[in-house]
Amino acid sequence: MIVCVCKSVSDRQIKACLEAGANSLEDLQIDLGVALCCGKCGPYVQEMLDGVPSCCGRGCGGACSSVDAGDTATQVVVMQELALAA
Ligand code: FES
Repeated sequence: MIVCVCKSVSDRQIKACLEAGANSLEDLQIDLGVALCCGKCGPYVQEMLDGVPSCCGRGCGGACSSVDAGDTATQVVVMQELALAA
């Protein structure tokens, strides 16, 4: 689904950008150009951002926050599985 008509940016592109580590509207503006023309997509893009759990910032898409923060071994396994799946 196209989210930003002005720049022809889809929700999939935004999700991929978020999974790659973008965590602010400014990041998405720089990476994809969303919300820089008419701005009508801004609120929806912000909703997508708000739905992303805070996490390690390493592009895990929030998977790290689903494991015990103190369990480094589990986090490493999760990150390796995500890397293999990509
Ligand atoms: S629809 Fe995104 S800037 Fe216009």
